[in-house]
Amino acid sequence: MYIIKNSIMTFKEEILAGIPNKLPPIKAYDKQVNHAPKRKKILSPDEQTLAYRNALRYFDPKHHATLLPEFKQELETYGRIYMHRFKPDHKIYARPIDQYPGESTQAKAIMLMIQNNLDHAVAQHPDELITYGGNGGVFSNWAQYRLVMQYLDHMKDQQTLAIYSGHPLGLFPSHKDAPRVVVTNGMMIPNYSKADDWEKFNALGVTQYGQMTAGSYMYIGPQGIVHGTTITVLNGFRKIKKSPKGGLFVTSGLGGMSGAQPKAGNIAGCVTVCGEVNKKATKTRHDQGWVDEVISDLDLLAKRVREALQAKEAVSIAWDGNIVEVWEHFYKENIQIDLGSDQTSLHNPWAGGYYPMGLTYEEANQMMAENPAIFKEKIQETLKRHVAAINNHTAKGTYFFDYGNAFLLEASRAGANIMAENNLDFKYQSYVQDIMGPMCFDYGFGPFRWVCGSGNPEDLAKTDAIACQVLEEIMKDAPKEVQQQMADNIQWIKGAQQNKLVVGSQARILYADSEGRIKIASAFNKAIKEGHLDTIILGRDHHDVSGTDSPYRETSNIYDGSRFTADMAIQNVIGDSFRGATWVSIHNGGGVGWGEVINGGFGMVLDGSDDAQRRLENMLFWDVNNGIARRSWARNKEAVFAIKREMKRNPNLKVTLPNFVDDSLLN
Ligand SMILES: NC(=O)c1ccc[n+]([C@@H]2O[C@H](COP(=O)([O-])OP(=O)(O)OC[C@H]3O[C@@H](n4cnc5c(N)ncnc54)[C@H](O)[C@@H]3O)[C@@H](O)[C@H]2O)c1
Repeated sequence: MYIIKNSIMTFKEEILAGIPNKLPPIKAYDKQVNHAPKRKKILSPDEQTLAYRNALRYFDPKHHATLLPEFKQELETYGRIYMHRFKPDHKIYARPIDQYPGESTQAKAIMLMIQNNLDHAVAQHPDELITYGGNGGVFSNWAQYRLVMQYLDHMKDQQTLAIYSGHPLGLFPSHKDAPRVVVTNGMMIPNYSKADDWEKFNALGVTQYGQMTAGSYMYIGPQGIVHGTTITVLNGFRKIKKSPKGGLFVTSGLGGMSGAQPKAGNIAGCVTVCGEVNKKATKTRHDQGWVDEVISDLDLLAKRVREALQAKEAVSIAWDGNIVEVWEHFYKENIQIDLGSDQTSLHNPWAGGYYPMGLTYEEANQMMAENPAIFKEKIQETLKRHVAAINNHTAKGTYFFDYGNAFLLEASRAGANIMAENNLDFKYQSYVQDIMGPMCFDYGFGPFRWVCGSGNPEDLAKTDAIACQVLEEIMKDAPKEVQQQMADNIQWIKGAQQNKLVVGSQARILYADSEGRIKIASAFNKAIKEGHLDTIILGRDHHDVSGTDSPYRETSNIYDGSRFTADMAIQNVIGDSFRGATWVSIHNGGGVGWGEVINGGFGMVLDGSDDAQRRLENMLFWDVNNGIARRSWARNKEAVFAIKREMKRNPNLKVTLPNFVDDSLLN
């Protein structure tokens, strides 16, 4: 029960009320919460007026005189109008699906997923509606949250809700096989897609940065990336032909996604050192048990790392400071780093994604808002120092890889010594070029995930057992090319319960190809039909085989020139939407930055029905094979192998295959 101005509202009533007639009381600023940094001032006086006009259009004119000064103050103080007064009184978290109001199970599932993305235990800056990545928003303001939840409550299975960058345009008539929600985030006319365009149009309240799974309601906490990171760390050590035991992995970031690195290091079995400048982020991950130890003194850190390496411990240590200090100190101390990477939010370098040396965290936050030009210089100086220290280590044998956070790109833009001799390529590869692309994506393996609608951990345990059984069955006849993938994922799912990966909704992830995804989903649907399981919500990360066109990350191992195109991601989301997805989304930005990537995804509700079975078979097949076909056309030999195999499995699949030219003819 929640008390609003003498009236008592239940959770359901508050959802039903949408934007209430009577203004809720002003909310106090909660200092305990990790808040988004103040955004830089970017709007001219006329544009500020436009931002107020835009914000006020959500409210009855009788409230405008009260709200205008508040919105002015928010824009002045935070650089954005979040409408904090309208933050609901109900606790936001993934409730069991039957606790949501409304008529449509599909709509209830979407409410559950939205609430999970805004849960205080899950979201990076929950009061600013940001799930991860510094700017990955679910909505831009609390009015949008209230309206969307109200629309979902009213929704029928013959309607579709159109959401424009967090703003619910409205419910439109459609049909039962159509998506219930279509989300677009940050879709811009290409010429207006620079970093400052996000600052400006987001401040105006007309667009938002949806990241990947933030604005698509498919975030499942750090587990989503623990799995991918574990696979990457394992394969990284395989690449340098060293066992993770007694090996050292140095990286940074204990935020939304990056916070998964220490846990992944532990699962792989190495010593992990992870730098983090934000004490709140470090505390959260330490309290959650995602990092074992926190050290604030460089000499103590070096001593502890030596001990741990000697004893071959699987241990993770947070460095309470700037990561550049670790790289420099370990070089001085002659500590051999085996694997090195970085997961600061360099897709967002000027607004809190990457912190400079020489300033405290608080000083840096102040400078980025008040003196952005000098802040930019400090960032670029730090990046140069960061790269110089990494270069010193790689000269001694460290294997460094870009972890999909635009590190190489931003370091090159900062003028760091990061270019290869040909001055076209970077000195180091991205993890997709070396590891994820050829070993996973080209074979169709990607981050398939599901959430148990009941919120019951026992349901999650049942799904783990079902998925494991399905994978072991497929493994019996799997070709040798994919055996390692299958084995890693069977091992992962067997250890998943013990590794306590759940933060927020009862969710699981594993890497599977289209055969695995369809067979696992079919087995879930059957178990629901037979009454052994409650509703299951399927989805995936956008960082997948087909979902994302991103030339420096997901499609960095496409070498036919097409990595700068975005046809695959757009085709994917359109194809998913008419093949049965419950909701679809397509985003600009996410991972590597606004204007640098187009990515999309889906959510799909399984309710045990024949309709759900038809949809899952049709949609999941397309959702994976679209990307394999494109990767195959780009002449990636692993993908050519995979798509030929899929054509054999399904005679209705016919794709255009590439012919290979004899090099001697061209040279
Ligand atoms: N490789 C992948 O699969 C993958 C997946 C998701 C995200 N990413 C990318 O990784 C990056 C991080 O994502 P996130 O969700 O963790 O972002 P985040 O903003 O939540 O976390 C980044 C953390 O880095 C810290 N940080 C910044 N500069 C630092 C410095 N110099 N030294 C030490 N700590 C510093 C920040 O305080 C923050 O807590 C993003 O760019 C994201 O797009 C990659």
